[in-house]
Parts: sequence; C-alpha cells; structure tokens
Amino acid sequence: MNGRASQAAGILLDRHREIVEPTTFRLLGREWDLLPGVYAPQLTQSAALYAEWLPYPVHGSFCEVGSGCGYLAVTAALRGCASVTALDVSAAAADNTRMNAVRHGVEDRVRVAHGDMFAPLSGDDRFDLIFWNSNFVEAPAGEREGAELERAFFDPGYGAHEAYLRDAPRHLQPGGRLLLGFTDLGSEEHLDELAVRHGWTAGTVRAARCGTADGHIEYRLVEFRRAG
Ligand SMILES: C[S@@+](CC[C@H](N)C(=O)[O-])C[C@H]1O[C@@H](n2cnc3c(N)ncnc32)[C@H](O)[C@@H]1O
Repeated sequence: MNGRASQAAGILLDRHREIVEPTTFRLLGREWDLLPGVYAPQLTQSAALYAEWLPYPVHGSFCEVGSGCGYLAVTAALRGCASVTALDVSAAAADNTRMNAVRHGVEDRVRVAHGDMFAPLSGDDRFDLIFWNSNFVEAPAGEREGAELERAFFDPGYGAHEAYLRDAPRHLQPGGRLLLGFTDLGSEEHLDELAVRHGWTAGTVRAARCGTADGHIEYRLVEFRRAG
C-alpha cells in the first residue's frame, strides 16, 4: 500500500468512525439516510462527480456493485433507468440502500441484495451498465479482510477488483458497458495487469482533480472494453 493512499484512507476512515448513530445528509439536492458503518459519500467530492459522469441507460438496466448508502442506485432510478440492481458485501449498506430507495419512492425499480460481488445474481441477470465506485486502496495480499467499513476502503491484493473484472462479462448485455470509479491513490499498474489478464483494455473516460484537507486526489471514471 502506498503511503499517500494509506494516510488519506486513514483520515477518511477516522471521520467515518465518528458516525455512530443513524443520520441524514444532503447531496445532489436531496436528503439521504446514512447508517453507521456505511461509506459516507458526502465526505468526499466523488459522489457528485460519479452522479454527473455516469452514462445512465435510460429505459435500460443498471447494476451498481458496492452501493453503500444507495445514493447512486436511487439517482439512476430517478434519472430514468427502468431497473436498478444494487449489491453490497456490507449488510448495513444493503439495508441503507433499501431505506433510500423507499425514501425517494423508487423501491419498485431498485432491487437490493447483500453479498460478495456478483454472487447474489442469477446467471440470467444481465445489465446495460455495471458500475462500482471501488475500495481502490490496495492492502497487502493475504491481509485479513477487515470490518465491513474497512472493506469500503481497502482491497487486500485487489482480490475484489479481480473478481469484478473476471465475472462482469457473465452479467453484461451484448454491448453493455463496464465502468469503475477509481483514483490516483489506487494501483493503476495492478488494475491494468488484472484488466489484461481478464481480456479487457482499461481507459479513463473522465477525470477530475480535487483538493482535500491533506493534498489532492484525482477521481477517475475508468471504462473496460473487450481487448482485441
Ligand atoms: C468506496 S465505497 C462506495 C459506496 C457507494 N457506492 C458510494 O459511492 O457512496 C465501496 C463500496 O464497495 C463495497 N464493497 C467492497 N468490496 C465488495 C465486494 N467484494 N462485493 C460487493 N461490494 C463490495 C463496500 O462495502 C462499499 O460499500
């Protein structure tokens, strides 16, 4: 793990640990529920960027891996996706996404499931767009997976990133798109290596450099296209 990434993640993790009661926050002109232990999108600028950048498949199907509190899955439904599937390995995050779907009246179009990567899906589930705002800080391989909140930040050995790239093709419609929210604190080299191993070419389609309390971070929307 590089020093800059671990320092930035540590600061953000400490801010998350201060959230010990259910609360609400405003983002994208709306009020959202947030449960303790769930990634808090209002603490960084990435939420607004990904909400603006995503090419929502209007009238189509969208799958968000790692939906957290669900602001993006709900926004996708509000922006016209006919069906949204929100997945998260954190049970609290799945509950939180359900709460926000109900709060914004889109629970009929937002299906939520708790589980590791695509495990909750059936073989028939295919989507026009799959997206994950990932836990891009690479922890050493073999390190025990931490508490649910830590899994929002750290991916030991990029095992979850590998599963995303390996298994996504089974769940993409023909012509469907695979996107990832990543940053310059992640290991671009390892991500590219995994992409090549699983038959993808990675390219950054949008990027923005944002100031933070301890420096800056570049948020990136990365698209994977079938190689060759
Ligand atoms: C950076 S947070 C993003 C949360 C939310 N999408 C947002 O932008 O606010 C990453 C999310 O991925 C989830 N996650 C991490 N590993 C996962 C896995 N193997 N399968 C499913 N979700 C995972 C975490 O629980 C967390 O909610």
